[in-house]
Amino acid sequence: MAVADNLAVAPFLRSSPKKLFIGGRWFEAASGKTFPTFDPSNGEVLAEVAEGDREDIDRAVKAARASFESGSWRELPPAERARILWKVGDLIEERAAEFAELDSLDNGKPINEMMLADVPLSAATFRYYAGWVTKLGGQTGSISFPGQWLNYTLREPVGVVGQIIPWNFPLMMAAWKVAPALACSNSVVLKPAEQTPLSALLLAEVIQQAEVPPGVFNVVTGFGETAGAALAEHQGVDKIAFTGSTEVGKLIVKASVGNLKRVSLELGGKSPNIVFSDADLSRAASGAYLGIFFNQGEVCSAGSRLFVQEKVYDDMIDRVSNIANELVLGPGIDPMTQMGPLVSEEQLKRVLGYIDAGKKEGATVAAGGERAGGELSHGYFVKPTVFAQVNGKMQIAREEIFGPVLAAIPFDDEDDLIAKANDSVYGLAAGVWTSDVKRAHRVARALKAGTVWVNCYNVLDPAMAWGGYKQSGWARELGPYALDLYTEVKSVLMDLS
Ligand code: NAI
Ligand code: MG
Repeated sequence: MAVADNLAVAPFLRSSPKKLFIGGRWFEAASGKTFPTFDPSNGEVLAEVAEGDREDIDRAVKAARASFESGSWRELPPAERARILWKVGDLIEERAAEFAELDSLDNGKPINEMMLADVPLSAATFRYYAGWVTKLGGQTGSISFPGQWLNYTLREPVGVVGQIIPWNFPLMMAAWKVAPALACSNSVVLKPAEQTPLSALLLAEVIQQAEVPPGVFNVVTGFGETAGAALAEHQGVDKIAFTGSTEVGKLIVKASVGNLKRVSLELGGKSPNIVFSDADLSRAASGAYLGIFFNQGEVCSAGSRLFVQEKVYDDMIDRVSNIANELVLGPGIDPMTQMGPLVSEEQLKRVLGYIDAGKKEGATVAAGGERAGGELSHGYFVKPTVFAQVNGKMQIAREEIFGPVLAAIPFDDEDDLIAKANDSVYGLAAGVWTSDVKRAHRVARALKAGTVWVNCYNVLDPAMAWGGYKQSGWARELGPYALDLYTEVKSVLMDLS
């Protein structure tokens, strides 16, 4: 565990093994077991973490239930809850260096991206939902039934919420889940991904420091098949929110059946990033870069299918390949790094498998196309890869790769494009690059995607709805939409006659 002493997060990492956070206290797993989490830039162990399982999940769900029933959070004045959630945002910002270093070491992502995107967006998400706490309310209904009536709705918390998150944006995914759930007065059990369990534990410290009452927020680290599955099945959980693979999303749905808990899912994607010949090609090339190489391509909304109008196809391939060839690969913790390693050896194998498949199917490698060697061969680094001459039948054009691998596909006209772009089981996001404003709106309407970026890509804000069509998920997070995920609507009717 060779963590540099000069890091802000060194004291946090030194207190290993990390424990579970349940009912406002820190516990070892009931089994006493721990598991290692690794630095993917060199494969070394970063920390040992408590391996929570069914028993620990049960304990956390009971703590969450007790806090919910006690009213310790729910019955605080809304302005007080708002103040506390705002404070969580402030504390995330105060401890920005620790959060940035932690996710950068645990996931591999560039620390600059943590400081520019993940950390401020996580703080912003808590503040955005802090703002909603004092604005949550119901409506009155106009009743036609004979007589005199008063009808109104109340928005009440769902109760105990289980949240399972992935490893690609560990802190930010926690913020997207936890902030709206707490804003709506629920109690939460969070299960972070086994590849990146650390920042959720630092978030627990911050949430405790902000004086969220004990038991309202709990963290159980552990594996998906054990701790995750136990949370999804638990009869004491009223709602489950999941972000991860489509495959596991389907398992979550099955596991929810026992008590018909509410389910929201944010799953995979194979998003089209579309460049028309009338676009500003230099900006479109930067957008293609952001679309597929940001966060090593480990992004659910990655613009992994680059559709380019035939006239400018070769030009765009050159531009994007040049960017790919110049990207500086290195450990995320190094401020010079522009692209870090993949999160794990498993993910490295997956991505290299897809690169092989692309070559075998006859696509042309325009950049990258292999694991990075030399000093980087100790980590899980893949060179930023651009495949040209891809067609929509190839595996690299159909399946979510979740790595820095772009499939560039030519198209003829708008009709041809729409058919090709929508030919996917996914529908999470899309990008459109054009200078024709009418076309931009026409194409945005025709695309089956939860988010359409026009002349930009992968730009996020807590006020923007987030979620997918088709097998990219159920329901929408962020914006006011997340309030629907974490509340029940109660209709009250009173006879005034
Ligand atoms: P995963 O879907 O297995 O993991 C996501 C979360 O679900 C983790 O917290 C994991 O512990 C949990 N989990 C796993 N199995 C579970 C189960 N049976 N019950 C309850 N929870 C469970 O994703 P994985 O295996 O890490 O990555 C595989 C692929 O999934 C990636 O290559 C990528 O294509 C996709 N993925 C998509 C993400 C997205 O943001 N849409 C995020 C992570 C992965
Ligand atoms: Mg898995």
